[in-house]
Amino acid sequence: MIIGMQYGDEGKGRFVDGMAHAYDIVARFNGGPNAGHTVEANGRTLKLHQIPSGVNYPDKKLYIASECVVNPIKLYEEMAEVEATGLSVAPRLHISPQASVIQPGHILRDIATMKSVGTTMNGIGPTYADRASRVEGSRQLDIRMGELLNNTQRAFAIVRQNLEVEAQKYKDALQCDGIDIEKEMARFIAACEMLLPCIDIDPEYLRKQLAKKMRILLEGAQAFGLDKTYGITPEITSSNTTVAAAFHSTGIPIEQKGKAFGVAKLIPSRVGFGPFITEFGGEKSEIHCMADGGKQHTHREERRSLGYGGIEQMLAGDDFEMGIALRMLGHEYGASTGRPRRIGALDVQQLAYAQSVNNLDGIFVTKADQLVHFARTRHKAIPVGIAYTQDNKIISHMPTTKAECVRTEAFMEHVAPFTQDLGDTREWSNLPTELREMLQRVSDIIRCEILSVGVGPKREQVVHRNGRS
Ligand code: IMP
Repeated sequence: MIIGMQYGDEGKGRFVDGMAHAYDIVARFNGGPNAGHTVEANGRTLKLHQIPSGVNYPDKKLYIASECVVNPIKLYEEMAEVEATGLSVAPRLHISPQASVIQPGHILRDIATMKSVGTTMNGIGPTYADRASRVEGSRQLDIRMGELLNNTQRAFAIVRQNLEVEAQKYKDALQCDGIDIEKEMARFIAACEMLLPCIDIDPEYLRKQLAKKMRILLEGAQAFGLDKTYGITPEITSSNTTVAAAFHSTGIPIEQKGKAFGVAKLIPSRVGFGPFITEFGGEKSEIHCMADGGKQHTHREERRSLGYGGIEQMLAGDDFEMGIALRMLGHEYGASTGRPRRIGALDVQQLAYAQSVNNLDGIFVTKADQLVHFARTRHKAIPVGIAYTQDNKIISHMPTTKAECVRTEAFMEHVAPFTQDLGDTREWSNLPTELREMLQRVSDIIRCEILSVGVGPKREQVVHRNGRS
């Protein structure tokens, strides 16, 4: 199993991809099209959202588990994209009948009501909310994939009714003359009909495969810092992202747990609003990145308007400018939306909390190559958030509210920088001593070994501690 330990976008997909060859099935256990991962399929680069990683191995089965939410239109479009590369998807994709359907009305509600969170506008929150509340009077709110399969026409009628209600309710907020219900429903129905063969009638499919000794790789979407329970409300996602959540969603008995690994970025990022204690430039950076819902400072826009003085000057500037420079150098913009990701220092307390809740067997870290830029900053050191303080005293617990985060500061350690380009490094012993010492210090604090280090964006740019992939 693989989960993200920070705020998402840690680079989980590449590790799932790298490990998938040793498994028979790759199963996604939470979230929906709010996730995004880049996959190389038959020489083409694809940005996928709902199809599990591992799709590029033609012999792997793919599973979307019961605690996921599925947008049929987007899923069908993604499948078509992958199939255009020559890889088949439909015959090996299995969708749990207990996963919920993201209905067109859910997306309208997300757009109309959830701007303050900075959601991905994919209808995730409304779908999970309706899954919990189930009905409003006599109107059924939540539809499962199994209902699409078993009672198709009734399911479509409910989706249509819900869309009519939401379109009417949010007409003003959506600033539109009206939604073309017929057109929306036609797209929805067409996609669902194509997906029906992928929906399992049997909710036990995955467990039965396990009983047949099939090896299952569980893939988490989003990350621990965005977890519905463990993240800080309201700027979190609506599903659980933990190791325990994977068992709940797939129904795999906990006694059958294999190894669980976490992925963390050495220069973390966050998209959307919400506390980010080690953020470079603090609130100024949050406001900058989220201007116009994140649409104002896209990569192209930052290049154009912030080109003053160039990257070098910004790197050497204050922390806010340094954050912009690191974002540009590390290409930290949303894979599908282009939104700028807020950038900060490694937050070791966050990782320790993730480790404490998830009891991981090891950690993969990414973006070690990007640490090289810190040698050119005014700190001439790699800043690492080692602990939290309140009123200048180290605290021993994790803040759980936004108000508490405002009173909390990161206690920073400044680690010796290195200047070596890591792109071609493949041996642990060839990593710079400064980096190895930093990783050891982090491992010691969080009490979990760092097993692999990403040194570039390509799949092969990874250094394994034990020398193997
Ligand atoms: P939602 O999941 O679309 O409701 O968005 C809630 C928050 O989680 C927003 O701040 C999103 O930007 C963030 N988020 C959701 N999924 C991901 C992801 O896969 N990577 C990074 N951030 C995410």
